[in-house]
Amino acid sequence: MTPPFGLPAIANNVFSAPLAGYTDLPYRTIVREYGCAVCWSELIMARGLLERNTKTFDLLSTDPADHPLVVQLGGSEPDIIAQAAVISKDHGADAIDINCGCPAPKMVKRGYGAGLMKDATRVGEIVGKVKQAVSIPVYVKIRAGFYPSVPTAVDVALSAQNAGAEAVTVHGRFREDYFRGVSDWQVIAQVKNALSIPVIGNGDIHSFSDAQRMIETTACDAVMVGRASLGKPWIFRNIINRIDTEPSVDEWIAVIERHARLLFSFYGEKTGCVKLRSILCNYTKGIPHIRELRPSIIHITTPDDYRRIMDQIIARVNIN
Ligand SMILES: Cc1cc2nc3c(=O)[nH]c(=O)nc-3n(C[C@H](O)[C@H](O)[C@H](O)COP(=O)(O)O)c2cc1C
Repeated sequence: MTPPFGLPAIANNVFSAPLAGYTDLPYRTIVREYGCAVCWSELIMARGLLERNTKTFDLLSTDPADHPLVVQLGGSEPDIIAQAAVISKDHGADAIDINCGCPAPKMVKRGYGAGLMKDATRVGEIVGKVKQAVSIPVYVKIRAGFYPSVPTAVDVALSAQNAGAEAVTVHGRFREDYFRGVSDWQVIAQVKNALSIPVIGNGDIHSFSDAQRMIETTACDAVMVGRASLGKPWIFRNIINRIDTEPSVDEWIAVIERHARLLFSFYGEKTGCVKLRSILCNYTKGIPHIRELRPSIIHITTPDDYRRIMDQIIARVNIN
């Protein structure tokens, strides 16, 4: 029997979503330590890999602990994506995912990202070419459709399956919704009903209870968590252990410190500090009077700045 998702034994069915600008190697290291079984890379433009664009290439950075890793590719030209898939595999990808969900105007005007939700045939062609080029599994990540009046998720998912895709992730919003409103989990259920390959449910999971509800309502084979993991990477441990609990203050401080160290060593101190700004904002959401510290957080320039601010944050947490 083919293993689920075409991957060698995976520990659980709780996966981390691709989040451009966030799901870099430091993020993936942290969420894997919290038990996340399969991580997606950030969106990587296929053409950028072929053109050997340094910034694009850097997004392929991985390490021996960073597996299974799904590299997500953007584009719409089957040959270009297939060549990018070969490069990705040679750099450590365990599976390839085709982005059919990015709503950005610069993407959809070229027929990339959510633009592919208007062209099920093209999605099949892309999957077919990538399957010919690499031996690793090929997935697609789709939305409900492009326009709310024209749901296309089932057609696109079937086209991907017929071309040999090993799994489909469904985010139940239309392109025109961007990230507004709610993810319609009925769309996930419809795709699951129509397909024989595994379906990964995505959109608006903020807790174990949400994940459980999604599995019950849609019968999806795995859940994928995105935004809720930013600043709360323990959500993976919660879902896996079927609990909804917050970490202790000591654990919370330790994970922030670890994330900061990983950023400094991966990007170097200068870029690491810039990356840390939004990450620290996420970790500190909900802390009393944190707004007073936001201006300092968003101007962190050196590790010393970070340590000074962290001391102030810890002082606030300990008073309350
Ligand atoms: C900041 C941000 C970046 C994202 N980047 C990507 C991306 O690169 N590729 C992709 O397929 N989806 C991307 N998404 C969509 C997420 O993967 C996910 O489908 C969506 O956020 C819904 O799941 P969630 O409610 O768990 O966040 C992004 C979303 C956000 C908020």
